[in-house]
Amino acid sequence: MDAADIGMDLEKVLISEDELQAKISELAARIDADYAGEKLLIVGVLKGAVMVMADLARALRTPLEMDWMAVSSYGAGTKSSGVVRVMKDLDTDIAGRHVLVVEDIIDSGLTLSWLVHNLESRNPASVGICALLRKPDALKVDLDVKYVGFDIPNEFVIGYGLDYAERYRNLPFIGTLAPHVYGGAKS
Ligand code: XMP
Ligand code: MG
Repeated sequence: MDAADIGMDLEKVLISEDELQAKISELAARIDADYAGEKLLIVGVLKGAVMVMADLARALRTPLEMDWMAVSSYGAGTKSSGVVRVMKDLDTDIAGRHVLVVEDIIDSGLTLSWLVHNLESRNPASVGICALLRKPDALKVDLDVKYVGFDIPNEFVIGYGLDYAERYRNLPFIGTLAPHVYGGAKS
C-alpha cells in the first residue's frame, strides 16, 4: 500500500518506508553493541509496536526472546492519564533478565513511565526503552529513553503500527492524517 491508496485521508508522508528501515538498522546496531555478550528480552507494547518489533527483531543479532504486553490508559479524550490498566501481562518471569521495552510512540510519556516502574518492581537485571517516535511533550517527563528513532512534531500520526480508529496500522510508512478525517482537532 502506498500514499496514493489511502488518497484523501492522508495529509502527508512524514517518514518514508526507506527512512524507517534505515533507522531500524541503525537502532539495531546500537542495541547489539550495547548488549554484546548478553541475552535480551524484547517486550512489545500492543498493538502499535507490532511493526517495529517485527523489523527490529529481524535486524538484531543479539540472542533474544520476544514477549508482549497490552496496556490501556484510563481517562477520557485523546490524552493519556497516566493511570494504566494491564490488559495482557508478560508470559515471562523477567527477574534477572535484560528487558528492552519497544514502543511505537511516546507522546506524554505517562504510559511508558508507568510501565517501566511496573517492570522494575519485578527485579530485572535492567530495563531499557526503544521508541520509534517521540513527540515534544515526552521531554517533560523523567524518562530515560536510550533508543529513539525520530523526534516528530506534535501531530497525530498513522501507519507502521499506528492507527486512527484501528485503521492504517498496515501502512509501511508514517504519515499524518488529513484534518477532515478526525474533525480538525490536533492531538
Ligand atoms: P503517552 O501519552 O502515555 O501515550 O506517551 C502513548 C500512546 O498514545 C498513543 N498515541 C498515538 N497513537 N498516533 C497514534 O496512532 C499518534 O500520533 C499518537 N500519539 C500517541 C499510542 O498508543 C501510544 O502508545
Ligand atoms: Mg501504543
